[in-house]
Amino acid sequence: MIDAISFKNGTFRYLDQRFLPLQELHVETRDHQEAIEAIKTLAVRGAPLIGASAGYTVILGINGFTGTREEFPAYFGKLVADVEASRPTAVNLFFATRKLKAVYEANFASDSLESLFAKMTEEAHKIYHDEVDNCDRISRHGVELIKRDFADVLKTRKLTVLTHCNTGTLACCGTGTALGVIRLAWQEGLIEKVITSESRPLLQGLRLTAWELEHDGIPFFSISDSSSAFIMQQGKIDFAVVGADRITANGDTANKIGTYAHAVSARHHGIPFYIAAPVSTIDITMAEGSMIPIEERNADELRTIFGTQVATPTTPVLNYAFDVTPGTLIRGIITEKEAVVGNYNESLARICKG
Ligand code: MRU
Repeated sequence: MIDAISFKNGTFRYLDQRFLPLQELHVETRDHQEAIEAIKTLAVRGAPLIGASAGYTVILGINGFTGTREEFPAYFGKLVADVEASRPTAVNLFFATRKLKAVYEANFASDSLESLFAKMTEEAHKIYHDEVDNCDRISRHGVELIKRDFADVLKTRKLTVLTHCNTGTLACCGTGTALGVIRLAWQEGLIEKVITSESRPLLQGLRLTAWELEHDGIPFFSISDSSSAFIMQQGKIDFAVVGADRITANGDTANKIGTYAHAVSARHHGIPFYIAAPVSTIDITMAEGSMIPIEERNADELRTIFGTQVATPTTPVLNYAFDVTPGTLIRGIITEKEAVVGNYNESLARICKG
């Protein structure tokens, strides 16, 4: 399996996704500022992987602490704030820092710093391993839902699925969320073909999802983001499944820019549109999608294509990294606990409580 990130003997190792698929460059660091930079620049990316990387980044930071015990609370507060400032939309990042803050709060008064740091490191590993396990459960629940929704169609033929951005091992630690569902559905003989939309401007679909599918020998083709409505109109897409960066209490879902357009087209053509994500991506404190902070990235990501200037350097640009798909356009939300269909206020509250 692809080793997207790991943490051993105080060293954080990551596959720098900016160079994929043309170069597999693994980077090692013991410096938390470098790890923050890796999150900011999308060298590591995808909501669950951002969460796990944020956990390990905090561990790098505490390992680098050289002050006195009295100085630690202020140092830790700034460290967490710096990590949290790296990317705003994926709530998994804040889920990870909240978990580590809880370990700190429960043990700082009673433990030596050494023992506290050991407990926090254990928690960071747990965040990583939980995400690996979540992928397997999400995949199973997703496949069951698709078998139910397509019971009649599957009697006569296999399905073609559209996905957007990258939600595989590169994004999730385990087999993936949406891509995990697709992988398992393929293994169980439900899928004929996968369509990956390129995901401009950073091309996570074209570069990363395509790379993972090729690696697994799953038949696919890539399309430009703007092709999906036309391909749906031709009847060539049975369903769409994508990941999420934050899901609010009513099921509104932030995901890679372009997701909303696919969902609107899917609704127009009567195509079921699913979200697959761990419970760590649900932000039950937010009532609806308009409350989600949406990351705006550097204009040059749009004005250039991997270093080559394609617009004048002065072209004004609006470069949103994510959009929000209303819960009303989503057929089902697939989590590691269960797959829920409709009435998200009630079902997501139950999932988050249990
Ligand atoms: O900007 P990115 O590449 O981090 O955005 C990733 C996505 O939008 C994914 O679809 C989402 O994080 C889900 S990953 C399982």
